[in-house]
Amino acid sequence: MDHKTETTLLFSFLFFITYLITIVSAKDLCNKNDKNTLLKIKKSLNNPYHLASWDSKSDCCSWYSLECGDATVNYRVISLTIFSGQISGQIPPEVGDLPYLQNLMFHKITNITGQIPSTITKLKYLRSLRLSWLNLTGPVPEFLSHLMNLDNLDLSFNQLSGSLPSSLSLLPKLSYVDLSRNKLTGTIPESFGSFLAEPPYLLLSHNQLSGSIPKSLGNIDFNHIDFSRNKLTGDASMLFGAKKTTFSIDLSRNMFQFDLSRVELHESFAVLDLNHNKITGSIPVQWTKNSLQILNVSYNRLCGRIPTGGSLQRFGSYTYFHNKCLCGAPLDSCK
Ligand SMILES: *[C@@H]1O[C@H](CO)[C@@H](O)[C@H](O)[C@H]1NC(C)=O
Ligand SMILES: *[C@@H]1O[C@H](CO)[C@@H](O)[C@H](O)[C@H]1NC(C)=O
Ligand SMILES: *[C@@H]1O[C@H](CO)[C@@H](O)[C@H](O)[C@H]1NC(C)=O
Repeated sequence: MDHKTETTLLFSFLFFITYLITIVSAKDLCNKNDKNTLLKIKKSLNNPYHLASWDSKSDCCSWYSLECGDATVNYRVISLTIFSGQISGQIPPEVGDLPYLQNLMFHKITNITGQIPSTITKLKYLRSLRLSWLNLTGPVPEFLSHLMNLDNLDLSFNQLSGSLPSSLSLLPKLSYVDLSRNKLTGTIPESFGSFLAEPPYLLLSHNQLSGSIPKSLGNIDFNHIDFSRNKLTGDASMLFGAKKTTFSIDLSRNMFQFDLSRVELHESFAVLDLNHNKITGSIPVQWTKNSLQILNVSYNRLCGRIPTGGSLQRFGSYTYFHNKCLCGAPLDSCK
């Protein structure tokens, strides 16, 4: 054999060995318990076409909607994300038997009904729980407060009812809460003013929440608040402050009633929607120091001259119309 042939043979041999290792390890990747659990989940969802790739003969780490971790977690399933499918059934309680799950999502599925199963409290590594655009009923369960690693909770666009569980504030890492577009009633709990992890996002819009906002919420520097389209009343001025780094607040279509005159905004505040409330007072001169991108104070009881400067004249009259007696550009000049 000449040198060239020898090299070629050696390389072919090495290639073959690598190939074998890949096949063998690929076959072993999926954990047996995880695979059994996943097949039960598929069955409990009535073997939908959406999960056709979930075939017991193949490696579950290659299945659609799934992700396995790396060697450090022995390739256990860490992510189950099922979305945009036509599936009938309930969230299978067996999801609680995927002990390494960090990310669980059922999103925009046509016919998922029933309640959130309590078995998810077994998922002690769960960081993101997203059960949205489904037809889930029942409460936002108290037991969610057992998920100590949860940082992202999205239960929006369902038919959840009952009140907000005050224990959510006990979750040490929770930084994104979206419970909007449900049928939630009752008041915002006092405890939401003492979140262990200051939650930058609190989205509760399109529910039937009532009562006034607890004063304690003023202690928190939220990033983005959306309380729009509820039945909230009273003062909301504690949410604002020149020192808070909040960039967006939407309180539109409620029954808030407070004096806007002393409400200050941080320089980087960008989006403020207060339309359809019973807010009194005038637009603060302090707002001219700010570069608001979106502003809507229409349909309130504001009065007085719109201060000149900042971005206040960049908005059209639809930002300010239907108030008691606001005047000055872009509205008619004051008499
Ligand atoms: C939705 O699911 C229920 C049972 O889970 C079933 O009875 C019903 O036929 C399904 N509807 C549609 C439109 O698939
Ligand atoms: C929820 O159910 C209603 C009627 O039962 C249906 O019209 C609606 O499309 C469903 N929503 C989702 C997201 O499946
Ligand atoms: C402010 O809200 C009102 C009421 O929903 C709406 O009619 C108006 O167009 C909005 N203004 C702007 C600038 O979006």
